[in-house]
Amino acid sequence: MLDLSQLSTCTRCALSEHRQRVVIGSGPEGAALMVLGEAPGRSEDEGGAPFIGRSGRLLFELIGEELGRTREQCFVTNVVKCRPPANRTPTGSEIATCRPWLDEQLRRCQPSVVLALGNTAAKSLFGFDEGIGVTHGRVVQLGGAKGVATFHPAAALRGGPSVVEVMRSDLRIVRALLEST
Ligand code: URA
Repeated sequence: MLDLSQLSTCTRCALSEHRQRVVIGSGPEGAALMVLGEAPGRSEDEGGAPFIGRSGRLLFELIGEELGRTREQCFVTNVVKCRPPANRTPTGSEIATCRPWLDEQLRRCQPSVVLALGNTAAKSLFGFDEGIGVTHGRVVQLGGAKGVATFHPAAALRGGPSVVEVMRSDLRIVRALLEST
């Protein structure tokens, strides 16, 4: 069992050399919904909390409208807890090195539903081989929780209304799962 109080000083991988802050996560440990992103961006690295930039604003607007939940009601974290330089995709080795922290957060939170945002989160947590364009909206079993993947909100900021509509329909699947538990 890992001691999460040591995460803020973690130096297990080289991402620790570039970060300003370790972005551990936010929200109550017993939250029914865990929201999982890829990695902190610039705003999160500076502010020390997940999804506090533009993509986070869109994400929680959609979660509010489709699930009737606030950010404060969700446990929010990322696959890797430190910002990769220039926001590059984390490597397989960085993801694997950071994984025990996420596993400990999952163990402590015991969510009913995990919402994975984008390819990195969906592939690493659910083991999907195919891209998010194919796997979004699928329901998987993840220990005692259900998992659903959707597009990353940054993709919706780039891709516009059609991506937002897909995210909304995936969130309605999440809503049904939350209502059935
Ligand atoms: N993108 C992510 O994947 N996570 C964040 O916390 C912010 C942006």
